[in-house]
Amino acid sequence: MATPTIARTRAELVAARGGSSVSFVPTMGALHDGHVQLLKHARPLGETLVASIFVNPTQFAPGEDFEAYPRTFDPDLERCAEAGVDVVFAPTVPTMYPTGLDATVTVDPGPLGSILEGAVRPTHFRGVLTVVAKLFGLVRPDVAVFGEKDYQQLTLIRHTASELAQGIDIVGCPTVREADGLAMSSRNRFLSAAERQQAAAISAALRAGVAAGPAGSSAVLAAAGAVLDAADITPDYLVLTDPDLGAATPGTEARLLVAARVGTPRLLDNTALRLGA
Ligand code: PAF
Repeated sequence: MATPTIARTRAELVAARGGSSVSFVPTMGALHDGHVQLLKHARPLGETLVASIFVNPTQFAPGEDFEAYPRTFDPDLERCAEAGVDVVFAPTVPTMYPTGLDATVTVDPGPLGSILEGAVRPTHFRGVLTVVAKLFGLVRPDVAVFGEKDYQQLTLIRHTASELAQGIDIVGCPTVREADGLAMSSRNRFLSAAERQQAAAISAALRAGVAAGPAGSSAVLAAAGAVLDAADITPDYLVLTDPDLGAATPGTEARLLVAARVGTPRLLDNTALRLGA
């Protein structure tokens, strides 16, 4: 198992990246099995596999958990090595934001960035899309892999890549789950034992929604909402959309998305489903 090359600056990255085709998995570290799946998925998609580890300050609003976000570089490096990563790009804040965090040029997420997560975290997606654009500019990948767990993020990154002609193939990977269905997330470690049990109701709600799919939208939302209610979880949102986050249409593929705070952590999950006509 080869240890990945660690690059901390643009020059080190350019030297490590080489001229071959590049697949890329951007992360904020605290890697879990979900990230490992992304890395394994990305491995055969390029000759060189680059993973980035950067806790991006601009996607956290004041008072959110930027400081508390887990930072576990050494175990992360081991996971990267196991997954066949060639280069770990772990830049400093000044490398990513040379003119400071108030840089005036940013990526505007457009209207899709102000619904769902964007309604709760109004500056979040501007920070995500801006750092992803910077990472793309530095790493210059041919393909980049993101998890479906953050479905709105994945959708916005796809739109941005297409609308700004970034020339990068964006690939989504299915959510990896714990045995009881909880979607893997770096923030799950902040759940107490009781909250961890309660949190399993989030994916159970999605499964109930999928089962109710043939009966139509209202049945889906009622079935999923009942599971959350029974677990004493009040969602920030529980919504049914089309796969592109527009209005859901009967008789077609849809997406059911939920976000809820369980204790301190805010947990997100979603699933594909088919709606009855
Ligand atoms: O999903 C994440 O870990 C982050 O939002 C990302 C895409 C690495 C940007 O900081």
